[in-house]
Amino acid sequence: MGDFVNIFKIDDNSLNIANYYVRHNMLVAFPTETVYGLGCNALSDDAVKRVYAAKGRPIDNPLIVHLPMDADYSRYVYDNDLSLSLRKAFLPGPLTMVYKSKGVVSPLVSCGLDTLAIRVPSHKGAQRFLKYVDLPIAAPSANVSKHVSPVTAMHVYEDFGDKLPMILDGGRCDGGIESTVLDVTGDVPVILRKGLITAEMIKSVVGACQYAVDGDALNKRSPGTRYRHYCPKVPSTLFGADEVQKAVEYYGELKNSDKNPVILCTTEVAENLKGLNVIDLGNTGAVMANRLYAALRESENYDHLIGIRFVVEDEIALGVENRFLKAFG
Ligand code: TXA
Ligand code: MG
Repeated sequence: MGDFVNIFKIDDNSLNIANYYVRHNMLVAFPTETVYGLGCNALSDDAVKRVYAAKGRPIDNPLIVHLPMDADYSRYVYDNDLSLSLRKAFLPGPLTMVYKSKGVVSPLVSCGLDTLAIRVPSHKGAQRFLKYVDLPIAAPSANVSKHVSPVTAMHVYEDFGDKLPMILDGGRCDGGIESTVLDVTGDVPVILRKGLITAEMIKSVVGACQYAVDGDALNKRSPGTRYRHYCPKVPSTLFGADEVQKAVEYYGELKNSDKNPVILCTTEVAENLKGLNVIDLGNTGAVMANRLYAALRESENYDHLIGIRFVVEDEIALGVENRFLKAFG
């Protein structure tokens, strides 16, 4: 990898070094099928403190613990039938479940909540890393707090440079938006953060699924939802799905004042904007999820980002819309 001395392909050699770092409570970034994670030993207060410090993350926004496929959940949390059915159906995969904690991992992971979020990623490189290290790995997305989540090793490098001892490179993440966070502590599962595993999919397995309602209750249950997220480092303006013409006029005004703007919109809209700087987000939820974060980072090559909202036509697009709107503040 030439100049990037801390970016490593995943093999026995790099895993051996990663294992050393994790066991010495240092941070290792690793790929998952959603976004890259900034991993540390979840059993160590020191290691977990380091993650919050490196990201500049508010200390009341809890972390997800990542486990390998065959891990014994009952070591960490009070398991239940609901989650067992969902695990059979969806894991490994982009579904994080929130349980009552047994208090085995560092209390800093859950910021003093009595719950613990667990996720078993399906990415082969992630599984290899988690099996090799054989420790519960607490990992937020591997971006500086508030910035766009990373979907390549270079994105992680852009945010942290050489401050991380190691970035494991597993290629571009396919999923593209973070895992669905699902509270399974009650009788009915409750979605705290929308993602690639949708309410319909969950309903089809366990018969019911609710969305947490925005507001105080949700803020208490999933503090992360309260903070500003996913912001590209470029001024931005958002237009409605029916305001394409207005967006184009605004683009023209910026051009006339010597700016170099870019428009982020669906394929359908992009096709009518030939000749302008456009980033094409795709048309279906899955494609938009896959492209969103790379698109937001690409927008940083311009000096103004113009977003055009899209009509949500499938459930994954709902999760994309959530991040899209947050990116525009
Ligand atoms: O796909 C993902 O989930 C990625 C990859 C790296 O696994 N991770 C990720 O982590 O998105 P992060 O830290 O950016 O987001 C974690 C989310 C936050 O919204 C947080 O509030 C929620 O999970 N969370 C963590 N522990 C929780 C808990 N005990 N109760 C409720 N929500 C929790
Ligand atoms: Mg994040």
